[in-house]
Amino acid sequence: TERTYIMVKPDGVARGLVGEIIKRFENKGFKLLGIKMLQADEQLITKHYEEHIGKPFFPKIVKYILSGPVVGMVWQGKGVVAYGRVMLGKTDPLKSEPGTIRGDFGIDSGRNVVHGSDSVASAEREINLWFPEGVKDYPRALDNIIYE
Ligand code: GTP
Ligand code: MG
Repeated sequence: TERTYIMVKPDGVARGLVGEIIKRFENKGFKLLGIKMLQADEQLITKHYEEHIGKPFFPKIVKYILSGPVVGMVWQGKGVVAYGRVMLGKTDPLKSEPGTIRGDFGIDSGRNVVHGSDSVASAEREINLWFPEGVKDYPRALDNIIYE
């Protein structure tokens, strides 16, 4: 089944929004497969955002993500990559609808609370990067109620 990498960024952790973000994915029906708090280092965050190396905002995102601990999570479910992006909102909170995480909690693009993988391929790459030890699926009775 499809999986995505969702990460509460340092501003989200510092603001006490970890539970709120977990709650939204749980309420939706997605299954939590892995979760950890860690302080990223420059090498890890550079790999994570490697598509943005050389862009003007790249040094700022590195500094931002290094500014405190993050909470990385693996969520599983049907369409979870695309749903995750919808639930996060747009990169710029100003363009994010109310009801999305960034629409409800963010103001600046450079402090947008949460990361979400942008494709199935990115998700698998990011899960391997942040959870090199891997994550394991487990049975959940709820799945028989949530899915047709
Ligand atoms: P992520 O889920 O974090 O990958 O965000 P995204 O996919 O919505 O945006 P993108 O991958 O294009 O950019 C990665 C991150 O860099 C964003 O979440 C922002 O925090 C930051 N960022 C992107 N564009 C800008 C910008 O124009 N200015 C600033 N300050 N930050 C930006
Ligand atoms: Mg991105």
